[in-house]
Amino acid sequence: MKLGSAFDDSSISIDAEYVKDLVSVDEIRSLGGKISEAENTLKSKKGKGAGFLGWLDPSEMIDPDELVRIKNLSMWLRNETDCLVLIGIGGSYLGARACYETLRNQGEPYRLKYAGTSLAPDYHSGLLSSIGDCRFAINIISKSGTTTEPAIAFRLFKKELERRIGSELAGSQIVATTDKSKGTLKEMANREGWESFTIPDDVGGRFSVLTPVGLFPLAYAGIDIDALVGGATECAVACREKSFERNPSKLYAAIRHLLYKKGLSIELMAAFEPKLEQFIEWWKQLAGESEGKEGQGLFPAGAIFTRDLHSLGQWIQEGPRILFETILSIESGHSEVAVPEIAEGSPDDGLNYLAGKSLSEINIRTVDAVREAHYEGGCPNIKISIPKTDEYHVGAMIYFFEYVTALCGYLAGINPFDQPGVEVYKRNMFKTLGKPEI
Ligand code: PA5
Repeated sequence: MKLGSAFDDSSISIDAEYVKDLVSVDEIRSLGGKISEAENTLKSKKGKGAGFLGWLDPSEMIDPDELVRIKNLSMWLRNETDCLVLIGIGGSYLGARACYETLRNQGEPYRLKYAGTSLAPDYHSGLLSSIGDCRFAINIISKSGTTTEPAIAFRLFKKELERRIGSELAGSQIVATTDKSKGTLKEMANREGWESFTIPDDVGGRFSVLTPVGLFPLAYAGIDIDALVGGATECAVACREKSFERNPSKLYAAIRHLLYKKGLSIELMAAFEPKLEQFIEWWKQLAGESEGKEGQGLFPAGAIFTRDLHSLGQWIQEGPRILFETILSIESGHSEVAVPEIAEGSPDDGLNYLAGKSLSEINIRTVDAVREAHYEGGCPNIKISIPKTDEYHVGAMIYFFEYVTALCGYLAGINPFDQPGVEVYKRNMFKTLGKPEI
């Protein structure tokens, strides 16, 4: 095994050259057995949280009839409206936003709006006024059907929609994505006759992007959801079948586990592509909520470079040596933009050495320069690459990080599929606000 590159069949590759001073090839190899154990625990569905493994097989996660309904309804609503207000928090919205912002054709109007992630009054009044003349539909997403933030946003947007088009028509433009039978939202959808989609019982919020939670808003926004699920499905096969030494998901799981054990307690996921910012937000929840328990877990942080090199760069280079980086990289398929030549006689801005060079090349070389600098400063880093940003590869990347998270959770001996800590603030909030007991 070499710490350079390993590929899987969905073309995700890992380059771990810049961890070699901290983690040796032998140490990685010696974790192979434990990774196999973690994998067998997943496969046998006998480990902690085994009731939440529906995401393991992406092609089985969604009922074919429901998929057809998603496509038909999203197409109809797309013709009737200009935008979809996606109301949800945490796992009920981050995945859709991550995929949309990574894949969106920048030339097209932005089709999704997001609500339900704050209780701040200025946030809500700002959202309501930002909707302007936009003809909107609503997709309220909540597995429990009782989360306060989205419930409040839903009241506000539903009232606004009814004011604009009347309650009967509004009812045809409200879509609820929730539990198949229980919860307040399901009851409301049944009573009001809203279209609804089901979040499978065996899929938790942060693993739910490839269920109707993500697929309906993404189909509305014009994303090819079949290709997204297709990429995830092929990545699932690659993650399961490739031997340890040729398997980026297992190598990455092993390396991040070893780095954590050596005292690096923060993983900074960084990309040199602003369009990956929301993907990193999605991953922060996936990793943080899955692994941060029982006094353990890497703290997942995010950054966009080179922007954040001008704010966090100093800390990364010379601060406490408790952090490693995972750099997300897109290898090709970028827009063609070159540094312009300057007209003869114009003042020299000092950039002529780059004139005519593509920004793509400049960005890629900068990745190498930053990785080397950080490594030399004592910040090890791993690069995870996909060949390009299309639905297939984004789907693969989603599965890749879900699989790694599950393996790392089992390596640490915790349940990666629950989130008891999140409930604590909710209980306190309900108490403070005087929510009646049911
Ligand atoms: O991943 C999770 O489980 C959480 O982030 C939930 O998705 C989030 O708390 C929202 O919960 P719900 O979908 O029940 O409204």
